[in-house]
Amino acid sequence: MRDLDETSITDEVLQAISGTPDPRTRQISEALVRHLHAFIREIEPTQAEWEMGIDFLTRTGKMCSDVRQEFILLSDTLGVSMLVDAINHRHPEGATETTVFGPFFVEQRPEYPLGGNISEGVEGKPMYVSGVVRDTAGKPIAHATVDSWHSDDEGHYDVQIRDHLAMRGKFRADEKGRFWFWSVRPKFYPIPDDGPVGEMLRMQGRHPFRPEHVHFMISAQGYETLVTHVFIEGDRYLDSDVVFGVKNSLITNYKECQPGIAPDGKQMDRSYLALHYDFVLSAEK
Ligand code: BEZ
Ligand code: FE
Repeated sequence: MRDLDETSITDEVLQAISGTPDPRTRQISEALVRHLHAFIREIEPTQAEWEMGIDFLTRTGKMCSDVRQEFILLSDTLGVSMLVDAINHRHPEGATETTVFGPFFVEQRPEYPLGGNISEGVEGKPMYVSGVVRDTAGKPIAHATVDSWHSDDEGHYDVQIRDHLAMRGKFRADEKGRFWFWSVRPKFYPIPDDGPVGEMLRMQGRHPFRPEHVHFMISAQGYETLVTHVFIEGDRYLDSDVVFGVKNSLITNYKECQPGIAPDGKQMDRSYLALHYDFVLSAEK
């Protein structure tokens, strides 16, 4: 293992890791070396560019904390998160499509009864959200757990600007798989772009926006947990989502509703938007 050069070094590194005992670790290590070396051969970085790359990754790591995961943002904005999602969710025909989880889910989210209002005092256009959770045969899934979270009408999540949780909640669907709750309309928003990922986006001439959406995570015993969003027709960023998460089947429209008795029997003295989406879970593998 001496006098290695541009042409011989890759095989030598592959040889060095060929004894990795765990087969999956060996496969991953070998692929990483092959692709990394091919990348370097393709771009032929200067020493200064190599240092810039190391500095970028170092700062990406240093930006990470309990409430900020810059490496996931990097994965999201390079399309890697959606590629991993696609590979892991080759769902049967008919199941609701998945999309990115995102960094704004909170484990300690509040639980609400059906019909509860998760806006917790945040101002905005009232939004009535409802849907039915079914299996791929069309049978309602009784008592499915439905989690939802979204931004306010200026595109901020509670955890970004507020001292209390809002616009997020956990519900238990009824015996017919139905759920419904109240909140306020979200808005398109920029992903956190004050770190290395934001720098990268600017260098690539890209905007940091995601189209308006409501997140859902739906689970039930015996089914794959569904992580997805519902997007709104007409949003200006549907065709340029910075994290590549939009799927046609997840886009729907609000229904404009006038003051009066809402579907859950609530008397509304203001107009409101109704967002209805039915979800289909695939059976656990
Ligand atoms: C989100 O939708 O919450 C999100 C997803 C990926 C990156 C940033 C935010
Ligand atoms: Fe989001």
